[in-house]
Amino acid sequence: MKFDTPAGTNPIDRMRVVGQPTARIDGPLKVSGKAPYAYEHHDVPGKPAYGYVVGAAIAKGAIRSIDTAQAERAPGVITVVTHRNAGKLGKGRMNTANLLGGPRVEHYHQAIAVVVAETFEQARAAAAMIDVDYARDGGTFDLAAAKTGAAEQGGENAPTAVGDFEGAFASAPVKLDATYTTPDQSHSMMEPHATIAQWDGDGVTVWTSNQMVAWGKKELAATLQIAPEKVRLVSPYIGGGFGGKLFLRSDVVMASLASRAAKRPVKVALQRPLIPNNTTHRPATIQRIRVGCSRDGKITAIGHESWSGNLPDGDLETATMQTKLLYAGPNRMTAMRLAVLDLPEGNAMRAPGEAPGLMALEIAMDEMAEKLGMDPVKFRVINDTQVDPEKPDRPFSQRNLVRCLEDGAKRFGWSRRKAPGQTRDGRWLVGMGVAAAFRNNLNQKSAARVRLNASGQVTVETDMTDIGTGSYTIIAQTAAEMLGVPLAKVSVKLGDSAFPAAAGSGGQWGANSSTAGVYAACVKLREQVVQSLGFGQGEATFENGTVRVGNRSADLAQAAKAGELIAEDAMEYGDLAKKFQQSTFGGHFVEVGVDRYTGEVRVRRMLAVCAAGRILNPTSARSQVIGAMTMGVGGALMEELAVDKRFGFFVNHDLAGYEVPVHMDIPHQEVVFLDEADDKVSPMKAKGVGELGLCGVGAAVANAIYNATGVRIRDYPITLDKHLDKLGDVA
Ligand code: MOS
Repeated sequence: MKFDTPAGTNPIDRMRVVGQPTARIDGPLKVSGKAPYAYEHHDVPGKPAYGYVVGAAIAKGAIRSIDTAQAERAPGVITVVTHRNAGKLGKGRMNTANLLGGPRVEHYHQAIAVVVAETFEQARAAAAMIDVDYARDGGTFDLAAAKTGAAEQGGENAPTAVGDFEGAFASAPVKLDATYTTPDQSHSMMEPHATIAQWDGDGVTVWTSNQMVAWGKKELAATLQIAPEKVRLVSPYIGGGFGGKLFLRSDVVMASLASRAAKRPVKVALQRPLIPNNTTHRPATIQRIRVGCSRDGKITAIGHESWSGNLPDGDLETATMQTKLLYAGPNRMTAMRLAVLDLPEGNAMRAPGEAPGLMALEIAMDEMAEKLGMDPVKFRVINDTQVDPEKPDRPFSQRNLVRCLEDGAKRFGWSRRKAPGQTRDGRWLVGMGVAAAFRNNLNQKSAARVRLNASGQVTVETDMTDIGTGSYTIIAQTAAEMLGVPLAKVSVKLGDSAFPAAAGSGGQWGANSSTAGVYAACVKLREQVVQSLGFGQGEATFENGTVRVGNRSADLAQAAKAGELIAEDAMEYGDLAKKFQQSTFGGHFVEVGVDRYTGEVRVRRMLAVCAAGRILNPTSARSQVIGAMTMGVGGALMEELAVDKRFGFFVNHDLAGYEVPVHMDIPHQEVVFLDEADDKVSPMKAKGVGELGLCGVGAAVANAIYNATGVRIRDYPITLDKHLDKLGDVA
């Protein structure tokens, strides 16, 4: 099915199941420990052996020699796989560095060996006996130093310019020119990257934890140099991803190689201290923002430049993306430049681009509002735009940013906010901050298969993943709504490459795209049902387990009496996203307390008002947003991979040294969804919402801290050492 004209009225609009707050159908399995995660029990023939991955101890250079003899003789060891005996490997298109390194080493903790043994402890003990001699090359590890050599990119990442930015900025009566920095960040999902691999002849099955099943299958086939049909990838339950599991990682490749060499199933979990350097991270940015305004607060010039680094052939962090679209202004420019760094691979982490981009842009907006003597909510409101500011003939499909901000301000008690440093609560300096949230809505082709059996049970099969987001539930809701049955009549099977290829979980496109694919398959199944019942032409309704056409009706189950009905289809998209800019919006409000003696920051309460099209399941959408808000607090206050600039690695590569907040750190979080349905995006009229919840949060926290203390910090995370010595002025 192709979606190329705005959606009319359809069965989803009834919202009897879709749009209703619905507890996760996979919840009981998860909380009772019965949901099989990658490293746990699967239907694997034989007892799996354990693989332990060894990471390179240098950032760049070569392995001169690697001595595995002692490890191979160690108790319980079955085999050791390195570049010397792994056979020839290809490389997927999506990985910057090879997933098995050697002799060349491309980054610190790049996998260089996997030790296979009867037990995990034996594999780990033997891994410590491997003796590697390296030839270490120098490398470039410091973004600030490499910035001057950074290069502009082409295509979607090319610089943009409208009007005369330089002239308008120079002549603006009120202006800001400020630089902000965001650090490297680690996804830090609960479940580590893990895989069980099992060969059967020349084909391999991997039970793994991956957000994008179809991508993973293709990339593993390319790496192992076998046909894609020879790979089955199974990923039914995932303990978080945040982008860290979008791409094939070394656990999958090493488990596959280990299993082939050991001739039995092998399980590999990347040990936590390996993950931050072995896998991907969100790259650090340096961002310069210039805003010029008339005295009445209209933006006349807005410019955003960003610098980030990556391994050769890596991508940049697209931190200026939202600045092209968020605020009006006739004269504008954006530019992104990429430096070559020899740190581990930088890649997507939740809301890549907008998350770090808004951390900078939305502080800049706060600073400008202050220069103008204008309320920061009002400053954003008067610079709203309903069209793409770079291409004014291109409207937004739906844009309610202003309502998010104004509604949020009312609910949050924004009018009680005072000038910086003016609100006290004992030893606490108290402040409020606001930021706009913005994240593009992307759609991806997504396929599904729907079955109806003689007892009226509906089964949906698609390789879509549920990374803790609620995919199982919204897919069941969609099928139930389309076929007019209760949720209990729908079973959902996900995360198996044997099923039709779905959008996968990435870029906050999963919910809208995957349910649209299920919608398409259900439309087909409805046609089959009507045909099987011999109801002929006419509009069919599917309600309460009954199918009606005109004055004829029958039980849905009746249609499958003579045999199961099976329908498969995909939703594909035409050019509506070109004609209409599809984005999601929100307003984030944060109140913090800053201890005037220690500088410690505590978040007191948070509110997000979101406009993201139809909300398919308010329960799981709320969970997505409060989780994202919590992550945003991490970005504002805690998260930073510390770079060792001499040796080129992230020093705090575990959950002891890399700190993230939890819900308990924030006493009060509230989420409000505007009642929307966007007919330009899909028949579901829904848009992404998970990543939106993160976008802008960091700046709202930063702005609240400034409002509390009067001390402006432009360098994330805002740890107490950055403002402690300045709090004396206000205490
Ligand atoms: Mo998201 S970073 O596309 O998983």
